[in-house]
Amino acid sequence: MKQDNRTFIGIKITPGETLLEQLQEFKNLFIDENIKWVPPDNFHLTLRFLGETSPEKLQALETKLEQIAKNCRCFEIIISGSGIFGKKNKPRVIFLGINFPEELKRLAEEIEKGVVGLGFHNELKPFRPHLTLGRIKQLNSRNRFIQIMSDYPQTNYQTVRVSEFVLYQSILYPTGPKYKPIKSFSLNTADPVA
Ligand code: 2AM
Repeated sequence: MKQDNRTFIGIKITPGETLLEQLQEFKNLFIDENIKWVPPDNFHLTLRFLGETSPEKLQALETKLEQIAKNCRCFEIIISGSGIFGKKNKPRVIFLGINFPEELKRLAEEIEKGVVGLGFHNELKPFRPHLTLGRIKQLNSRNRFIQIMSDYPQTNYQTVRVSEFVLYQSILYPTGPKYKPIKSFSLNTADPVA
C-alpha cells in the first residue's frame, strides 16, 4: 500500500552572495543562541503547507496545479528587510521579508482555492510571504536578540525572477528536513493580451 507524504507548495530561492552574507552575519551575531539555521539549499518561499497527502490526492493536486500555473504569470519578488515571528516573549522564527506583488497574490489565492476545492484544510493564518532563515530553539539573551532584530536596517538583499513553483515532499530527519521536489509547474510566460 502506498503511503501518505508530507507535502507543501513553494518557490525555490537560490541565494546570491548578499543573501548568503546576511545569513552569515546573523549566525555571527547570534552565535551564543540556540537557533537552527536553514541550509541555503533549502531556501524557499512557502506558498501553501499541505501536510500528509494521500497518493490519490497528490494526483488530483498535480492536475490542479498544472491548470493554475497555466493561468498565472511569471513575476519578480524582492527579498528585503528582516523580522521575527512568534510571541514577544517567545520568538520562533527569524526571516527575511518578501514583497507581495499582484501576481503573487493571485497565485497564492488560486492555490488556496484549488487545494481547498480538493479537500485540503483551510489555511487559517493569513499568507505572509517570507524566507525563513532560522528556527529559534532557545534564547539565552532574549532582550538582546529582540533589540538587534528590531533595530536591524532594512536592506534589499535580492530580486528573484519567479517562473515556476514546486510541489515538494518534506522528509523529516533528525538532522533536519529534506525538501524533495515532486513536480515543478512553469508559470505562463506569454505577454498580456493588449
Ligand atoms: P516556513 O515557510 O515559515 O519556513 C515546509 O515545512 C515548509 O512549510 C516550511 O518552510 C514551513 O515554514 C512551512 N509551513 C507552514 N505551515 C506549516 C506547518 N503547519 N507545519 C510545518 N511547516 C509549515
